[in-house]
Amino acid sequence: MNNVRDYIRTIADFPHEGIMFRDVTTLFADARGFRMAIDQLLHPYAGIPIDKVVGLEARGFILGGALAHQLSTGFVPIRKKGKLPGTVISEAYQLEYGEAVMEVHDDALKPGERVLIIDDLLATGGTAEAGIKLCRRLGAQVIGCAFVIDLPELGGRTKLEQMEMPVHALTSFD
Ligand code: PRP
Ligand code: ADE
Repeated sequence: MNNVRDYIRTIADFPHEGIMFRDVTTLFADARGFRMAIDQLLHPYAGIPIDKVVGLEARGFILGGALAHQLSTGFVPIRKKGKLPGTVISEAYQLEYGEAVMEVHDDALKPGERVLIIDDLLATGGTAEAGIKLCRRLGAQVIGCAFVIDLPELGGRTKLEQMEMPVHALTSFD
């Protein structure tokens, strides 16, 4: 168990037949694995100013809280529709399996703030694209998106790089 990848469990046919679900709960549950993941997620951003960490629901919250603590920044959640209590802005997006809407409080980021977006996994890139658009609509500058897992065959990295967005991922699965 020397790599973050070794702690990730794969569950076939969840939540639908044909999906190989990459389960990070086993990574998060292991003290060494979780610390390794947080340290490696932060590595490319050493010395780069970051004002806020923005986490994508739901596993991006777990990673984002730890990253924000390490960076001494605030944390901002981007949530599925209807979960945030204040005034929100919304972006609809497609998933690998389904469709959804992401929201952020309209006062969560200030114009010019430099933000790092974090989630557990990059698949089609729809969720991250919605997150980037929400941050940009609030005037923030997204300096990068970080993920534990990239599924390159689903095209998310290409989609984000076409938006001029640097992508950092710790491991990938076919
Ligand atoms: C998963 C994952 C990412 C998203 C990636 O979340 O945690 O947020 O899918 O897929 P994409 O790159 O194709 O957009 P999911 O939508 O399953 O929601 P959950 O975290 O609330 O379970
Ligand atoms: N979200 C989208 N695709 C996924 C997958 N294959 N495993 C875990 N989360 C996902």
